[in-house]
Amino acid sequence: MNAARVDEVVGEFVNLKKRGVNLLGLCPFHNEKTPSFTVSPAKGIYKCFGCGKAGNSVNFIMDHESLSYPEALRYLADKYNIEIEETVLAKEEIEQKTERDSLYILMSAAQKYYSERLHEDEEGKTIALTYLKERALTPKTIEGFQLGWSSLGRDDFSQWAIKNGYNREYLVKTGMSFETEQGSLFDRFRERIMFPIHNIAGKIVGFGGRILRSNAKEAKYINSPETDIYNKSKILYGLFQARKAIRQRDEALLVEGYMDVLALHQAGIEHAVASSGTSLTDDQLRLVKRFTDNITFLFDGDAAGQKAALRAIDMALELELNVKMLLLPADHDPDSFVKAYDIEYVEQYFKDHSQNFIAFRIGLLPEDVLRDPIKKSEIVREMLNSVVLIKDIIKRNLYLREISKLLDFDEKVLNDELRRMAASKFKKDNKAPDLTLAEPQVISQEQAIRSQATAVNQEKQLLKVLLLYGSRMYTDDMTSAQFIYRETSGMEWENDHCRILFERYREATEQENNLADVNFLIHDQPEEMRRFVYDVITERYQLSPGWEKFLRRTVVSPDANYKEEVKSAIGYLKFTKISKIVEENQKGVALLETDEAIDELFMLQQVLLNMRKQLAVELGIG
Ligand code: CTP
Ligand code: MN
Repeated sequence: MNAARVDEVVGEFVNLKKRGVNLLGLCPFHNEKTPSFTVSPAKGIYKCFGCGKAGNSVNFIMDHESLSYPEALRYLADKYNIEIEETVLAKEEIEQKTERDSLYILMSAAQKYYSERLHEDEEGKTIALTYLKERALTPKTIEGFQLGWSSLGRDDFSQWAIKNGYNREYLVKTGMSFETEQGSLFDRFRERIMFPIHNIAGKIVGFGGRILRSNAKEAKYINSPETDIYNKSKILYGLFQARKAIRQRDEALLVEGYMDVLALHQAGIEHAVASSGTSLTDDQLRLVKRFTDNITFLFDGDAAGQKAALRAIDMALELELNVKMLLLPADHDPDSFVKAYDIEYVEQYFKDHSQNFIAFRIGLLPEDVLRDPIKKSEIVREMLNSVVLIKDIIKRNLYLREISKLLDFDEKVLNDELRRMAASKFKKDNKAPDLTLAEPQVISQEQAIRSQATAVNQEKQLLKVLLLYGSRMYTDDMTSAQFIYRETSGMEWENDHCRILFERYREATEQENNLADVNFLIHDQPEEMRRFVYDVITERYQLSPGWEKFLRRTVVSPDANYKEEVKSAIGYLKFTKISKIVEENQKGVALLETDEAIDELFMLQQVLLNMRKQLAVELGIG
């Protein structure tokens, strides 16, 4: 437990950024767009404010890798080169090992088998290794990506595996072997260069196999099927090897092919990954987002590549990734490009030719489109359809400006159109387009408020400042109490005690023009109420660390800064109440029948969102 530092163990899978004494990242256990997953190196634990998962290094590995407790210990021991003595497993215990584990073991054995064929067999050396050298792959790359070779025989691998005690059921389950009706096995991969596909923990979950010479009758690549351990839409080829570079560069480079990944890594561009054997999925982008917010797409310039690019852009924008597009000179793919030029040139080229998606799209258009106003406005609308996916208002405005500049279009018109689109998207999705809140921190703080600080707690907080500072002047001609009354007029209270005490205090101060004090307030109250007041004044409502940090200013030195306290107590309470209404509206949309009603709600919603944003700024959380 001493060796397996939680920040290191978790850091292998989650991109953690420093936030005070803790680290913060995107929770790997649920889909979140803004980080609320905290790791405390001092306490040795992680905690997710979004889904509530928490634990230490071992729990994390158990949960994340779906391992049992002893398996997680083995995993960590392995990672830190700690030897653990285990008794030799009895036969039944071997059978008890989880099936997934068995599949992993088989895949790992297959990788070793295929690598041996490549490096040791005559056939492998003369045919396959020679081919890889022709493609200018170095031994280091071949090693690093654990490439292999599957021989000609129809069942070489299957036979070897059976002979070495691997269960035939698993051979079939992993798709490494096919079983005939007569019950004999034959190999999926024959006469192919083998590319093992790793999950981010480095375990092999499948293979891609490339035929040596193009051959019209057979597919260039054959891939492992989906299995219990290989979910294609959630795996990126090369991510295991690329993850460190992605974190260091704070960027991922997405390319199309296995060979491209290899060539780029070999050239020193080690943040390249590919979606293997599928078109890019949402989940693959989520995987990227665990490591970085910045993604650059390097697609082929052909029509299929362009279409893939447009789809990828929208998916990435929706996940709040910052998207850059990179086009190579005609006739080049990444593989050929890095081989044709030295690394300085390549890096410089990448830097100079990365475009935002607006410029990229415009670049794809034929000249005459821009001269035709109708076509041009269609293009603009198309681009706005992407921009509307961006939640960050600042970024969205930057893109609007970009469109306006590059296409010579009035920014105001663009903005109006965008709002219209946002409104109809709102109707379609039954959810509010976040037209206001922007920065990730804002939303995670907002989440903190929502989960930690219920409206009731904030009502108590407000009551507390009223009781403690109500008599003090807020401005030259207004007491803090008067300020609070003004700001909360018409507010509905959630907590009855709070409401009663608040009203009582107000009546006392207003009618008698006499400042009430706490004793006055409770002298005739039942025991229960007195205790409540006492609690309100002294308690901190077991604030969570996040919440406390967030209120530190006020929690730590209340007396020194009572105006601040009054102001923020009101601010937080309003913020929470507004958030609640916003949420209710989001749900309520589904119940509305007419367009008019929806439009009206949407207008209201916008007002609320703006108010909330304004409050966030005032509270220093925006
Ligand atoms: N692919 C596939 N099945 C095919 C063809 C392609 O799964 N029949 C996938 C592979 O992941 C491949 C990627 O699509 O890596 C891109 O294809 P391609 O550009 O043809 O392959 P490269 O990896 O560039 O290989 P090479 O340079 O050797 O042609
Ligand atoms: Mn290629």
